[in-house]
Amino acid sequence: MKALVLSGGKGTRLRPVTYSLAKQLVPVANRPILFYVLDNIIQAGITDIGIVISPETGEDIKRAVEMYRTRDARFTFILQEAPLGLAHAVKISRDFIVDEPFVMYLGDNLIGSGIGNFKEKFLYENPDALILVKEVEDATQFGVVEFDQEGKVMRLVEKPKFPPSNFALVGVYFFSPAIFEAVEKLTPSWRGEYEITEAVQELINSGKKVIAEYLESWWLDTGKKDDILEANRVVLDEWIKRRIEGRVDESSVISGRVSIAKGAIVENSEIRGPVVIGSGATVRNSFIGPYTSIGDFSHVEDSEIQFSVVLDGVEILGVKGIDSSIIGKRARVVGDGKNRIKLFIGDDAVVEF
Ligand code: G1P
Repeated sequence: MKALVLSGGKGTRLRPVTYSLAKQLVPVANRPILFYVLDNIIQAGITDIGIVISPETGEDIKRAVEMYRTRDARFTFILQEAPLGLAHAVKISRDFIVDEPFVMYLGDNLIGSGIGNFKEKFLYENPDALILVKEVEDATQFGVVEFDQEGKVMRLVEKPKFPPSNFALVGVYFFSPAIFEAVEKLTPSWRGEYEITEAVQELINSGKKVIAEYLESWWLDTGKKDDILEANRVVLDEWIKRRIEGRVDESSVISGRVSIAKGAIVENSEIRGPVVIGSGATVRNSFIGPYTSIGDFSHVEDSEIQFSVVLDGVEILGVKGIDSSIIGKRARVVGDGKNRIKLFIGDDAVVEF
């Protein structure tokens, strides 16, 4: 069995951070989202992994995958010249997949469990598609699945104005090679894309076996700012262990699950977990509150920050209350020591107040 990871797209809903960073590389707890995706695939025993990239961010994705480095897997990059949809990505990956079953995993989807059980179920039941669903409040943002009275998958619709159910399609799909015939039959949708939901519908229409599994764990499609903050919160909450490798002076208080990387320095500060602090970062006379990730070589001084994602090389000076913020690489935020602030700023931004 092979895997196909989709890492293209423009990430327009995550601008400004995605002007200079592929959305799959936005860090959550100081690791690119894509790395959690690769972890999950490899842990399920799938090691032949194709990664679909775009001309805009493909080189960055390649570099990141090199950093991920593992001897356990083999990576093949597949260039998708234009963002023509998930079914189009499948179509252009035929030479890589050949005639094997595969899991297609969207590189911006995070789930709280492994995919091993779903893989087993897929191999055992041998359908042409196994899709994962999760109940959501607002299904208009997703592909939506409608079931018949016996619980069989009847219909799939992409981002419907009036969803027929609240079961959203999670971005992890298992396919047999029958999907290649299905994608050949598609025409572009109203948004100009070849939709994978329509390809699965095509399988159903032609009498192929399509089954759905309910995802019990949490699921986050990290498309927007709040999704990133939520993903950061959940990942810090569930996966971060206390690990202090950097230097912490005696007048600092570190409470709860806090990870301070090698080469980081904490002086006269309070860090209340869950928090991660990257290597080479310095924190001085400051408070770092729960659910915060501070990137490598960032510098925080005379400041308070919580529930935020700070990328690498950022400078934060004299800002008394940064909350629910995402701060791009090398940005500089200088405050007057009094006001609270909520930011979503891109790389190299400068904010003084
Ligand atoms: C895509 C799929 C959609 C699915 C979602 C999951 O949407 O088209 O069916 O529910 O991923 O993340 P997109 O992220 O392209 O808007």
